[in-house]
Amino acid sequence: MQRSFSIPADLEKKIEAALKKHFTLSLQDSKKLATAIKQLSDFFIENPDGQTPWSQPWAQIAYLAYFLPLNHARTQAVAREATTLGFLTGLDHVIDFGCGFGTASLALEEYFKHFTLVERAKDICSRYSFLPTDKVQWVNKLEKITEPGKTLTVFSYSLTELCELPPWAKKSEALMILEPSTQSDGRELMTLRQKLIDDGFKIWAPCPHQGKCPLLTLSKTDWCHDRIHFAMPPWFEAIEHHLPMKNQTLTMSYLLARRSLVPTPSPQKARTVGDRLKEKGKDRQMVCRGEEREFLAWLHKSGVDQEIPRGVLIDIPEDAPKISNEIRLRRIHGYGSND
Ligand SMILES: C[S@@+](CC[C@H](N)C(=O)[O-])C[C@H]1O[C@@H](n2cnc3c(N)ncnc32)[C@H](O)[C@@H]1O
Repeated sequence: MQRSFSIPADLEKKIEAALKKHFTLSLQDSKKLATAIKQLSDFFIENPDGQTPWSQPWAQIAYLAYFLPLNHARTQAVAREATTLGFLTGLDHVIDFGCGFGTASLALEEYFKHFTLVERAKDICSRYSFLPTDKVQWVNKLEKITEPGKTLTVFSYSLTELCELPPWAKKSEALMILEPSTQSDGRELMTLRQKLIDDGFKIWAPCPHQGKCPLLTLSKTDWCHDRIHFAMPPWFEAIEHHLPMKNQTLTMSYLLARRSLVPTPSPQKARTVGDRLKEKGKDRQMVCRGEEREFLAWLHKSGVDQEIPRGVLIDIPEDAPKISNEIRLRRIHGYGSND
């Protein structure tokens, strides 16, 4: 029941061609690819705030075959949420900060005609530029934006290498931020959310409200993160066979914010921010709709058996009773076993 994303066939072909051209490798060379991936993964674990070692061939190979497809799937999920909410309205230009090989822009290609790819390792990363050349400008740094009112600035796994948002980014009309779903990165993003609100931004997702984040104010350990299903192709499965990391599902923390456009009130009022927890006599699932830390709960004796995906917006009936921090539910239409 989780939202599912995969690697588009045309992107797969481009990755295959790049591996062949630069390294005489193929996506079928699973063992060699896995060795490079493990090396970059170990590097990130040992240097959580370190710069991506782009000059190393193994880092380029690992990004092409593994990190690019995974971050592309994550951005596809956030982009779909953005379009569903109308978040992209009036925007025509993307600035992809710390773009790597342009991962996030590739997932946004169908929505935009102009992309500025900002990458300090531009000379290496632009070798793997998969977007049409007439849509793209590569730069290694940016000091200001020309049309802030029409600009979406994207940080996909690049904020983690910075202390805070660059000043020009705060001027852009829209921000899309994806971060690793670790406790510390997730909580830093929740702190940044409050700073953006204080600065005048409106939060569009994942939070369906502009109040204080209950996971930050009422818990010292929680962090908001989403989960999607990754429908991996056979070649990816073969690589994973040689790796300790498993990617059946992918997690990420994210934020969508706009400076002037206010989210339109939706009849959908709450977002599931946790997985279903099966407990004795009842199921619970963390949900967000305001400043309280709340759970949906349905009793087994009521006969309800439902699988509500994590990360979706749902309607909570106005008359749903609340006991302590539990909103007692019967059935959310569309997710029950007898729908
Ligand atoms: C972990 S990679 C993420 C790449 C890509 N956005 C993705 O989602 O897969 C972070 C990137 O940010 C770039 N970066 C970090 N700080 C930067 C800065 N101050 N200016 C430009 N690029 C930067 C790094 O070189 C690296 O390519």
